[in-house]
Amino acid sequence: MNADPQAKVGQPVLKVDDLRTHIFLKRGTVQAVDGVSFHVNAGETLGLVGESGSGKSMTSLSILRLIPKPGARTVSGRIEIDGINVLDLDEDTMVRDVRGKLVSMISQDPMTSLNPVFSIGDQVGAAFRFHDLVRGRSAIRDAVVNVLQRVRIPSPERRLDDFPHQYSGGMRQRVVAAMAIACSPKLMIADEPTSNLDVTIQVQIIRLLREIQKETGVGLIFITHDMGVAANICDRVAVMYAGRIVEIGDVETIFDNPSHPYTQGLLDSIPHLGRRRERLYSIPGNPPDMQNPPSGCRFAARCPHVMDRCRSEYPPEATVAPGHMAACWLVGKNE
Ligand SMILES: Nc1ncnc2c1ncn2[C@@H]1O[C@H](COP(=O)(O)OP(=O)(O)O)[C@@H](O)[C@H]1O
Ligand SMILES: [Mg+2]
Repeated sequence: MNADPQAKVGQPVLKVDDLRTHIFLKRGTVQAVDGVSFHVNAGETLGLVGESGSGKSMTSLSILRLIPKPGARTVSGRIEIDGINVLDLDEDTMVRDVRGKLVSMISQDPMTSLNPVFSIGDQVGAAFRFHDLVRGRSAIRDAVVNVLQRVRIPSPERRLDDFPHQYSGGMRQRVVAAMAIACSPKLMIADEPTSNLDVTIQVQIIRLLREIQKETGVGLIFITHDMGVAANICDRVAVMYAGRIVEIGDVETIFDNPSHPYTQGLLDSIPHLGRRRERLYSIPGNPPDMQNPPSGCRFAARCPHVMDRCRSEYPPEATVAPGHMAACWLVGKNE
């Protein structure tokens, strides 16, 4: 990609507006994603943070149009990537032009995402062949060498025919990153590994991707349940609870001035280095049943600051400061 990254930084590459993805089961409807709006700018990393079951994966699968079928359906909203509403596209177009090309997924488990029986050159080249971006054996070889150079693999031309087991763990991570950026996507999505992958590996992959982001202007959505990891990686953080974003803002703002009691609870749950870990705080209680979410604030039952109004009316998205939103009745209550 030759485009000037400076010119692109700050422009939204993704705009999600009032997204609702529900899962229709025999026993009822799970409101997995229920009115989510956010954007991701070029060159920026947005963290999507929240406890398990809050709708993070369903949000990313909705963007890729890979929600579980049958059952799940995106019932309303807009998902604009580089100006195109992907909800208007048919499956063929998604396969040909969107997945792996406009948007790529980054597997955070490099050990399992590379196929042991194919050479590194063949696996990285597959993206170019599939999207028909580069034609001919030697041109594909050159493109693969180029993308491996961009992820700083030394002398890639000599290592194309090697197999994954001949690469070190760190180099395999670089190959995974190379596959994600091969087609110059506008947006990358990294969903947290379901296995308990070592957090340091996770952070290493993302650090590498951040360097690449600066060069290419690609936007990144980084999904995690761990606020501590998000603090290390993200420019902005969106906190999800029970299918909705309850707070969003710059990472410094979210950490220095969290305005939603749920965000405050998540921050209190981060283990602190050097502090004796006698009993790690965790937010008491459980998220609501997403088939019958409460009509008021979904966090009310667990909130230490709950008021009568919280139980009956969902709080509006209040602006705490420019770019900082929190859906809580406590915000601006004196206005
Ligand atoms: N295949 C599925 N069938 C039924 N419910 C599902 C399915 N996948 C996810 N859910 C429900 O959707 C909600 C959101 O899930 P998910 O997006 O996976 O959460 P997260 O990624 O934040 O842990 C949860 O209530 C979960 O139980
Ligand atoms: Mg998930």
